[in-house]
Amino acid sequence: MHPLLNTAVKAARKAGAIINRASLDLDLVRVTTKGHADFVTEIDKAAEQAIIETLSQAYPDHGFLGEESGAHRPAGAADYTWIIDPIDGTTNFIHGFPQYAVSIGCLHGGQITQGVIYDPSRNDLFTATRGRGAFLNDRRLRVSKRDQLKDSLIGTGFPFRDMGRLDQYLKLFRHLTANTAGLRRPGAASLDLAYVAAGRLDAFFEYGLKPWDMAAGSLLVVEAGGLICDDAGGTDYLGNGNVVCGNPKIHAQLLRIIQGHEPADTASQA
Ligand code: IPD
Ligand code: CA
Ligand code: CA
Repeated sequence: MHPLLNTAVKAARKAGAIINRASLDLDLVRVTTKGHADFVTEIDKAAEQAIIETLSQAYPDHGFLGEESGAHRPAGAADYTWIIDPIDGTTNFIHGFPQYAVSIGCLHGGQITQGVIYDPSRNDLFTATRGRGAFLNDRRLRVSKRDQLKDSLIGTGFPFRDMGRLDQYLKLFRHLTANTAGLRRPGAASLDLAYVAAGRLDAFFEYGLKPWDMAAGSLLVVEAGGLICDDAGGTDYLGNGNVVCGNPKIHAQLLRIIQGHEPADTASQA
């Protein structure tokens, strides 16, 4: 295992232990509201702190972008930024709905080069290093081979914070409900991406995500042989938050349908 990935796995497991301990008594977990349907718990903060401590002990000159603590770079920082979501799927976590994960990606040379997604309730570890493949625990991952959208299982996330896109999304939802094997909204974007890499979902799309939701998962998808882009077919999904990914055949079919449901002037708006 690449040393950077090895350290990220250690950090993700430490965070996972904090999350698992807290999940035994959720009534004790203090919840704060950041905005509409946007929650944070003391566990998100403790998990992020444990991740940053572990990484910065090993790599004192690396920078960080954490969902809860923001961006920080030591003076004269090297060209490495760790992009961290300590609990992706906080709403699920608060409810004891076991679909949430720790997500850690490493940005280097303008590319995500390492990715870890750790599902602590199932002890599932998804990892990828650029050019070296994607894995679930010790098993190499490949995207699915399905080639017809009508047979495909598609993951998505509802645009629950930005209501501006809701009408358009609902039309798309209607079309996909009628023309696929099924739509799923599990509630943790990092795991949705990991599931595309694992072939459990044939494709996934969502609007308005943040870089920490996607950093690690985007590398997993690519390393498992999938394609990923934004809703305009471009490469800036980490920047604009709109992502479409899947196995190469279903990705193309889904992107065509998504673009057919977008008014020309909204493509790529978060
Ligand atoms: C959320 C989850 C969810 C997605 C939201 C994200 P959080 O992350 O990934 O699936 O629909 O847009 O914000 O807030 O639980 O870390
Ligand atoms: Ca998230
Ligand atoms: Ca989070």
